[in-house]
Amino acid sequence: MQLLDGKYVSNKLKQEIAAEAAELAMQLGRKPHLVAILVGHDGGSETYVASKMKNCEAVGFRSTLIRFENTVTETELLHQIEKLNLDREVDGLIVQLPLPKHIDPEKVTEAIDYRKDVDGFHPINLGRMQRNLPCFIPATPYGITLMLKEYGIETAGKHCVVVGRSQIVGLPMSILMARNTQPGNCTVTLCHSKTENIAKYTQKADILIVAIGKKNFITADMVKDGAVVVDVGMNRETSTETKSGFKLYGDVDFEPVAPKSSWITPVPGGVGLMTIVGLLKNTLAAARKEVYV
Ligand code: GUN
Repeated sequence: MQLLDGKYVSNKLKQEIAAEAAELAMQLGRKPHLVAILVGHDGGSETYVASKMKNCEAVGFRSTLIRFENTVTETELLHQIEKLNLDREVDGLIVQLPLPKHIDPEKVTEAIDYRKDVDGFHPINLGRMQRNLPCFIPATPYGITLMLKEYGIETAGKHCVVVGRSQIVGLPMSILMARNTQPGNCTVTLCHSKTENIAKYTQKADILIVAIGKKNFITADMVKDGAVVVDVGMNRETSTETKSGFKLYGDVDFEPVAPKSSWITPVPGGVGLMTIVGLLKNTLAAARKEVYV
């Protein structure tokens, strides 16, 4: 068993991003700039957005956090997005999800200028991804592909099983692994909440990517010997053991699964750190006008 070490890969890639950001800042006369909108005070979202902002500063980007209370109207939010769409000093724009129930996330996602959509959630970016055209790829799937590439994991011709069909992770991941790209060229099975006997599929996976949001969902009996296991789980539980008062659990029961795997991501220290790298790379590409002019 070998670790897919998110700490190592993310630090390495962030150094590269920092060097490229410094060079770009000289050319542009300003730093690449990411704006994040956060609505409300959800604990998880607070943590993720704070980490995104901190990492932007660490690689020499400018970052701006715009906060709204839970009571913000959809119209107010859409107005703010429109202003940021037009602001030439904003390269990347993300709205942290989930949003309160009275706001339609589809409307918000489509309101963001696709050229600034560094989350890669806009239908234009998703459509272009499916067609293998230049686009912003959602940060978590993008980060996972960077990790597989870094460790030289062979994917062509393999059976990849993705568990979870979310718009943010599972569904785009299944498309990336099926595309004629490296990594990619897999035979892909996409399992979800209505799949009968998930174990029947996961047991056949050469590459198993789990993004279902259930602590220790994947047990050792569900994994084939020698599988590559990618755990996207970010299940937060209160804990007296950690400084933050929270402990993070993956979707994979790591201790018994690890010895069966050829490669496996830890939680924490795996995919979560790569998600940030995906976002930073998208933001750099947006500032460079590398994807869209
Ligand atoms: N909520 C959970 N993951 C994400 C993400 O990657 N981007 C945004 N904007 N919200 C999220």
